[in-house]
Amino acid sequence: MKNSDEFNRLHTQFDIDDPVFAERFEAVMDHLVAQCPVAHSDRGAGYTVFNRYQDVRRCAQDWRTFSSADGWMLNPPEGNIKILPEDLDPPYHSHWRRVLNPFFSAEAVAPLEAAARQYAGALITRFAARGQCEYVADFAAQLPGLILFRHILPVPVADLPTLFADIDVYSFGDMAARTPAFGRVYTYLQHFLEDRATQPPRGDLVDVILAGVENEVGEPCSWADKVHVALDVVFGGLATTTHAMSGAILALAQAPALRRMLREEPATLPTAVEETVRLYAPVVAVGRSVRADVVVGAITLKPGDRIALNYAAASRDPDVCSNPQDFDVHRHEVVHTAFGVGPHRCLGEHLARLEIRIAIEEFLRQIPEFELEPDTQPLYESGQLRTMKDLRLRWRTSP
Ligand code: HEM
Repeated sequence: MKNSDEFNRLHTQFDIDDPVFAERFEAVMDHLVAQCPVAHSDRGAGYTVFNRYQDVRRCAQDWRTFSSADGWMLNPPEGNIKILPEDLDPPYHSHWRRVLNPFFSAEAVAPLEAAARQYAGALITRFAARGQCEYVADFAAQLPGLILFRHILPVPVADLPTLFADIDVYSFGDMAARTPAFGRVYTYLQHFLEDRATQPPRGDLVDVILAGVENEVGEPCSWADKVHVALDVVFGGLATTTHAMSGAILALAQAPALRRMLREEPATLPTAVEETVRLYAPVVAVGRSVRADVVVGAITLKPGDRIALNYAAASRDPDVCSNPQDFDVHRHEVVHTAFGVGPHRCLGEHLARLEIRIAIEEFLRQIPEFELEPDTQPLYESGQLRTMKDLRLRWRTSP
């Protein structure tokens, strides 16, 4: 009851950057799904927020009516640059997905398993004998970048710390610091692509981005669009996976029975990964622009209106997921929207699943029993993206 009173203001004054999301995320999302299928925000130009699975799914699939071309950000900072293919509609969007998808299919990412396991094992070995770690910095913020920047968009290893720092500021830093940080990553990737364009082709993702595709008017796409595709892969693939694997380890730290289950019944791991993404959804909500008169539920929308698809709330909708608050590795099917729905469904979903599974397996292999450091709580940053910033763990070490 107290929660309801406190959260009711979000029905008409929704703000994705409200501190309440960082502090009370699960409670607010459950409240919105139960009490407020459609919320409204007056921030910026204003937007309507869909919180339930069926509405979110319908809008995400109907790209003609709900366009991505004005950008995924609800309150974009000044000078914001688009990322592609995220901020495109078909057919140009489909041209990019056709050439990018083969590098991210389940079959294409499977061979990365051995390297990912090796990186994960080595990171954990560094702190296993210490009996404690700050999981985000010591592990989760590192593994996705090691895989992405060594195997998919291979950049010089010496450049990684600066690149990671700028990506972190852009995603979660002060609003004033975000645009400059984005600019630095942009410039870095631009120079990286320029340099690769002078080298013989290697048959990798970078070559495909450099080759480009036809744009919406049937002409070769611009150089800038190629840089914006590289940006999307970079920004899409790091903080998201960091948050999900941190969520998995937090869930395990709090539930001895879950740790035992995953150790004794490894066949439940894929469901555990899906539950992780559903309950620790890193892409909380995305924006779309309405292109035609349309009614969704009881809401009438007109061309030019902005909407937000609340993927995190829709993934906790009891209409499609029984007992949605439970991390249940015995679900027959995990229905959620955490990887998106429709043409923009996550390009990196199979890679993300692989990384999260390996993060769980390798942690349990080296540190089977662990818990939250007493008197600590995980710290989060929340906005359209959500990530864990601090997760302190401890365990017994052998003498
Ligand atoms: C747990 C990890 C991840 C989650 C939960 C996640 C979630 C999402 C979601 C919800 C979307 C759809 C956005 C929309 O509807 O507008 C999306 C798109 C995208 N994701 Fe992911 N993502 C993850 C990891 C990754 C990884 C590892 C990569 C690449 C290395 C990646 C690259 C992309 C790209 C490029 C898009 C744009 C796709 C398009 O517009 O067609 N993501 N992701």
